Amino acid sequence: MISQSFVEVRDLHAHVGGHVAIGGWVETTRIHGKVGFAVVRDGTGTVQCVFVKAEVGEECWSELASLTQETAVRVTGEVRAEPRSPGGFELGVTELRVVGRSEEYPIQPKEHGVDFLLDHRHLWLRSSKQRAGLKVRAEVEQGIHDFFYERDFVRIDTPILTGSIGESAGTLFETDYFGEPAYLAQTGQLYVETACPAFRKVYCFGPTFRAEKSKTRRHLTEFWMLEPEVAFADSDDNMDLQEELVVHLVERALERAAEELEVLERDPNALANVRAPFPRISYTEAVELLQREGSEIEWGSDLGGADETLVARQFDRPVFIYNYPTQAKAFYMKENPDDPRTVLCNDLIAPEGYGEIIGGSQREDDLDRLLHRIREENLPEEAYGWYLDIRRYGTFPHSGFGLGLERMVAWITGRPHIRELIPYPRLINRLTP
Ligand code: 4AD
Ligand code: MG
Repeated sequence: MISQSFVEVRDLHAHVGGHVAIGGWVETTRIHGKVGFAVVRDGTGTVQCVFVKAEVGEECWSELASLTQETAVRVTGEVRAEPRSPGGFELGVTELRVVGRSEEYPIQPKEHGVDFLLDHRHLWLRSSKQRAGLKVRAEVEQGIHDFFYERDFVRIDTPILTGSIGESAGTLFETDYFGEPAYLAQTGQLYVETACPAFRKVYCFGPTFRAEKSKTRRHLTEFWMLEPEVAFADSDDNMDLQEELVVHLVERALERAAEELEVLERDPNALANVRAPFPRISYTEAVELLQREGSEIEWGSDLGGADETLVARQFDRPVFIYNYPTQAKAFYMKENPDDPRTVLCNDLIAPEGYGEIIGGSQREDDLDRLLHRIREENLPEEAYGWYLDIRRYGTFPHSGFGLGLERMVAWITGRPHIRELIPYPRLINRLTP
């Protein structure tokens, strides 16, 4: 029988001199004459287990020789402080039990191609850099919830199956809903807006879907988005909140995920400047800057990835670009009263080529102008009755934004492609595993 009283490797420091059992997976083994070693990972840490042939007995010694990569084991032994060991402790083994064999584990400690690794994503998750990246992701997610909870936001869970187009018709996943067309949510925004008059400050956080045909290192077809919405906040308040959040999340990762960032070889100095205030430039200023730098961009079109990188390079921290042309942005953004060719919105561009990590805006709160924009975009007006009701029954100024979790975490961890920062990436050519 397997005892349930396992000690977790992260807690070994509290058991020095004691006799404990750990349960985990074998990463490597080595045998030098009459002494052998097995490095065991239990999900909370990694520990070196030391076998002395004369002490463990014949059976245990031959079991050690049979261990292969990723065999599940239960190891019992004495906890010793050992500064030369990774983690600072080792286990002087008295007993070894194989719990589950692992024959010919596909991922070897050599270089594999990324397609091979993505095909084996279910196993690749166990590798140290992948573990570190996903741990930072979990830390950032928790940081998001804590940040908004501490500021009295109410979390609103928005639907995944929807009847109205959230962003634009171009990137929809359509499905059949008992004979009616339905779409996978591109955003939770329209729904979270409706909760503003109920709770004032709200946010949603969940998976969103875009049939993006682009094969870039910044695009997934399924990604997780945080979307706060605040009543009586204007576009400047909106940028203030984004700035506070981003500074907070970066600080938290540096503090609480320092070990993981080290595994990922992320230089913490790259994030040292992420402090308020972030520079804020208008779209028009950004276009002028880009034209000076040699870009072919014309006033009126959206910034491409290369343009974003070029703008970001001029600054030492994330930069806001605000008030884009109406035609470059979604229908729900508020017309800029000072320049009706533009809307009150912003993107937040991360340094180092990570591009747009946040898109936000003040919302069009005028019923007629909103209707006009819906018609202009050829969106099916009848699907938006409920959304327009927010403007019919006590309309009010409000603003919000969407932060793409994978892009944020890719930037914090310095990983080149956002696909590694989600457990199971969905890409244009990948639905498995
Ligand atoms: O700029 P977007 O499209 O904004 C919205 O969806 C609004 N409804 C948000 C709001 O105001 N509530 O997307 C927001 C963010 C982007 O800045 C980017 O970080 C991320 O979502 N994002 C993607 N991440 C990965 N793959 C994709 N295909 C992404 N598309 C957007
Ligand atoms: Mg955007």
